[in-house]
Parts: sequence; C-alpha cells; structure tokens
Amino acid sequence: MKILVYNRKNSEVWTSAVRKAFPDADVRHWVEEECHDWLADYAVIWQPPASFFLQQTQLKAVFNQGVGVDSLVNLGSLPVDLPVFKLRGVGMEEYMSDYVTYGLLHFYRDFDLYRQQQSDVLWQQHNIDQKSDWTVGILGMGVIGKAVAKAVSALGFPVIGWSRTEKQIEGVESVSGDEGLEHLLKHSRVLVSLLPSTPATRKLLNQKTLEKLPRDSVLINGGRGDVIDMEALQQVLESGHMRGAMLDVFEVEPLDKNHPLWKNSRVIITPHIAAPTPIEQALEQIVADVAGIEQGEMPPAIDKSLGY
Ligand code: GLV
Repeated sequence: MKILVYNRKNSEVWTSAVRKAFPDADVRHWVEEECHDWLADYAVIWQPPASFFLQQTQLKAVFNQGVGVDSLVNLGSLPVDLPVFKLRGVGMEEYMSDYVTYGLLHFYRDFDLYRQQQSDVLWQQHNIDQKSDWTVGILGMGVIGKAVAKAVSALGFPVIGWSRTEKQIEGVESVSGDEGLEHLLKHSRVLVSLLPSTPATRKLLNQKTLEKLPRDSVLINGGRGDVIDMEALQQVLESGHMRGAMLDVFEVEPLDKNHPLWKNSRVIITPHIAAPTPIEQALEQIVADVAGIEQGEMPPAIDKSLGY
C-alpha cells in the first residue's frame, strides 16, 4: 500500500506519524517533482496545491488532516468521484468545547468589563446575570457542535442548535432552515458559529443577521472566517448593538497586521488554535477507515456538493 502525506507546515511530523500508524505501507511525503512516477493508493493531506490531484490519479481515497474540507473542495482539481474523509471528532470536539466555554464565561462573568476596568484602575462590581438569560445559539451541529452544546448545557445555559437537518439532542432546542435561524438569532445572547465554509454559509452572519441578535450579545467563531462579514461585525460592535466577540478563524489567515479588529478591546483574537488536530487520535481513525475501505466497507465520506 502506498500512502502520500502532505502538510505545508508540519509535513515531517505527519509523515513520521503516518509511517508509525501504517508500519507495512510505503509512506512518502509528497514533493511534486519526485512523485510523477509514484502514484499512491491513499493520501493523508492538508491544503495541498491543485497540482496534487492532477498528478495523483490512482488514489482510492483521501483523508483530510482536519475537520474543515473547504481547502479540498474549493481546489477545482479534486475529482468528483474520489471519496474524501474528514476527521470526525477524535478529541477536537473537546478542545472546541473548552474554547467556547472560555469565551462564554469571559463575557457572562463580565471579564471583558473587568479587563477594561483594570486598565482604567477602577474597582467596580457587577451583578451576575441568571444563566437562563444567556441562551447560547450554536450554528452547526455536527460532532463538534453537539459536544459544545452538551458542555455549555451542562453548565446550566439554555442551548439552541441550528443545523441543515434538525437533530434530536437531549437538552438542546434543535432548529433548522430560515425560520429556525431567525428564532435562534432572536434568542441567543451568545452566538457560536461552528459552520463550515460552503456556498450556503459564506457571509451568513452579515449586518442583517447580526442585527437580529438581542442587544449586548456576543459572537464566538470557531468554524470558518468567511461565514462572517467582518465589516458588518465591526459596525454592530461600534454601534453598541453587540458587546464583543471571540474569533479564532478568518477569511485570510494570518489576519492582516493592520486589521482594525486587532486593536479592538472588545474582541479577543486567537490564531486558529481552538481545535488543533491531535495527530495520533486522527491516525487511529484513518487506520480504521483504510481497513474498512480495504474490506469493502466505506466509512462516511463528505458530500462534495454540500461542501462538508
Ligand atoms: C481546523 O480548522 C480544521 O478544519 O480541522
């Protein structure tokens, strides 16, 4: 079995981890010039260039080293009939739950105000709200969204979850469609986006939708950056309609050094660290998936027309 590995930033680590996980396979790091005559059966990749699929024409399946598959689906050269598998959980749901919980508690317990007060050398106490007044609306209820819903619900916050198809999740008000979105926006003090980047989600959070949130609401984005119209977000923050935001992902990463949000004291910016891939756990899933494929049992592949 021949396996190719590609990861622009972290190739050595991934290649040696794949070698360890597949001790009987011939594993190589993809370098375009060196692989013309070396066509692999499987690929374990992250953000390859378009030429990868033009060259690698014998692949049986592709494994994405993360959850979001936008960089593959948007390539243009990805063959329509080539099965693509994304990571399903593998511990990233726990990382994301921690990230969202941090952001939620930051705003709910007024740490944004206390940070500002500290820089103003001001001793002033604020009352603690009822958790029931801080409904958390989660956009995207896949493996990660469900885990986040469970975590914040366990803390006592009401949760509404929006997904393309309605899900039954204990303790979560599950909604879908335009009406469901409208309902969620109207009631969410904290809006959490865990949406993938697809034609249906791009700029979904714009002036019109953000203004539907209650006054003083906050946004946490751990999904993909292009779901948010950043100018609209800045406007609703400036107008005082929204209180703050915690953003981990951006349409262009790294976020431009001159972007005004860097200096906005009501915004927490993190460099796409909410839920990194735990490589060993990811490879356990990939090894099991390859074994399934070899035995004629296809694991759940992504739907390229939906983009996730
Ligand atoms: C990270 O952004 C991922 O898609 O796994």
